[in-house]
Amino acid sequence: MALKNINPTQTDAWKKLAEHYSEAKGFQLKQLFRENKCRKEDFSLTVSDLKLDYSKNLITKQTVDLLLELANEVDLKDAIEKYFSGDVINATEERAVLHTALRSNSEDEILVDGKDIKPKIQTALRKIKAFSNKVISGKWKGYSGKSITDVVNIGIGGSDLGPSMVVEALQFYKNKLNTHFVSNVDGDHVAEVLKKVNPETTLFIIVSKTFTTQETLTNANTIRDWFLKSGTLFDIPKHFVAVSTNIEAVTNFGIDKKNIFPMWNWVGGRFSLWSAVGLSISLSVGYDNFKALLDGAEEMDIHFRTQSFDKNIPVVLALLSVWYNNFFNAETEAILPYTQYLSKLPDYLQQAIMESNGKGVDRKGKEVTYQTGTIVWGSTGTNMQHAFMQLVHQGTKLIPADFIGYGESLHDFKDHHEKLMANYYAQMEALAFGKTKEEVHLELKTSGSLGKVNQLLPFKVFKGNRPSNAVLFEKLTPNSLGMLIAMYEHKIFTQGILWNIYSYDQFGVELGKELAKKLLNS
Ligand code: F6P
Repeated sequence: MALKNINPTQTDAWKKLAEHYSEAKGFQLKQLFRENKCRKEDFSLTVSDLKLDYSKNLITKQTVDLLLELANEVDLKDAIEKYFSGDVINATEERAVLHTALRSNSEDEILVDGKDIKPKIQTALRKIKAFSNKVISGKWKGYSGKSITDVVNIGIGGSDLGPSMVVEALQFYKNKLNTHFVSNVDGDHVAEVLKKVNPETTLFIIVSKTFTTQETLTNANTIRDWFLKSGTLFDIPKHFVAVSTNIEAVTNFGIDKKNIFPMWNWVGGRFSLWSAVGLSISLSVGYDNFKALLDGAEEMDIHFRTQSFDKNIPVVLALLSVWYNNFFNAETEAILPYTQYLSKLPDYLQQAIMESNGKGVDRKGKEVTYQTGTIVWGSTGTNMQHAFMQLVHQGTKLIPADFIGYGESLHDFKDHHEKLMANYYAQMEALAFGKTKEEVHLELKTSGSLGKVNQLLPFKVFKGNRPSNAVLFEKLTPNSLGMLIAMYEHKIFTQGILWNIYSYDQFGVELGKELAKKLLNS
């Protein structure tokens, strides 16, 4: 069954939220905390080893109740069931959206075109496992009889960003294989990667759901030509494998049928790292860690599917984001992980979020009259504190921010971790509570600079009242990373439902591709 068509702005909840906003725009976080000593506990949620503290948002209990009313009025519950059970919720492409099935350990069938897809998923996982074990153990040999030392993933967008983000994030768990990524059609990218690898000991994974993507095929062809300067056509099966739905195009490229890993139309590119698209992850950290990543995502899936909305982390995050986007007119959101391992998370989420919800037409095909897709950006703490945080603290824009932190560090540098986490908490506190004129005055006085008060005071004031979410895990593990990614996937889904748009197509990327082709052929 199709998703319902409910214009959010026509709901009673929306109207009440608009009214409530006239009061809420004056909310002061300092005052809200003063009035409710249990605010932190009242606005915190937990699932497994993840804690979300959303108390530093411009909300009261009434705001949350109204937002929850909105979720109910657009029938989010019904949409979630359709999402998980394989209804054709990507209606414009006539597809189900089943990345959740890829990590499901349940025995329940999930039907696509009347057939259970679970057996296919299990077969693919077994193939990923067997192949990863063979390469990692050194049993898979290159054309000269040497074991594989390097893996190169050739893909772009969803066939690159997810795997490369996860491989980077899980470096701590990595084995001896070196993993590289080639995505850009700019020849400099492939050239620099090829400088680092030896054809005798390198495995190339061509990842393209369609196997028609210009960038990926251009890079794959260049790499094959480079490889054929040392190896022969007969050596290709030992060095090239592919992940795709387009078997014909892959075999025409010269890849052995048994070296093709499956992809399916019911998995969107930007949500595909859980499938064989994540083969480079399994190679880099081993299949057991890859499976732990999937299991973590499944934990979040179960939470999202079964938990009531008031205790549901992705739902609450999505509602808060709509609150700022549609009522406070916030233009962007910042993603700020306090671990260097997650340096690629903002890039990855840019595709996941902006390709999904950057839509201007609703599910009736009518132009929307309200704001949709948030613009997301970010970088790691503490580097970004010395880069763009000035604007977030004292600039003119309201930028809600997610601070992602970890209670425990992976390395034994206690001192570093204490400093890192002190900054994590300090930034959120500074954003929320700022520094008043009186405080600045006193500070200048005690530092003996009272003479400069008139000159400096306005520049040193922090208005505060800037919202943030503290997303805190115990430790960065494959499991907790799976939870984190799935949390954002479900936030994206929920926002698409709230905005009455289709989140799983991406027609907006087509025109540029067509025009580039025309230019090339002219
Ligand atoms: O950027 C558009 C897009 O279609 C993405 O959605 C997708 O992840 C990417 O291109 C790559 O597509 P493919 O896997 O088919 O090469």
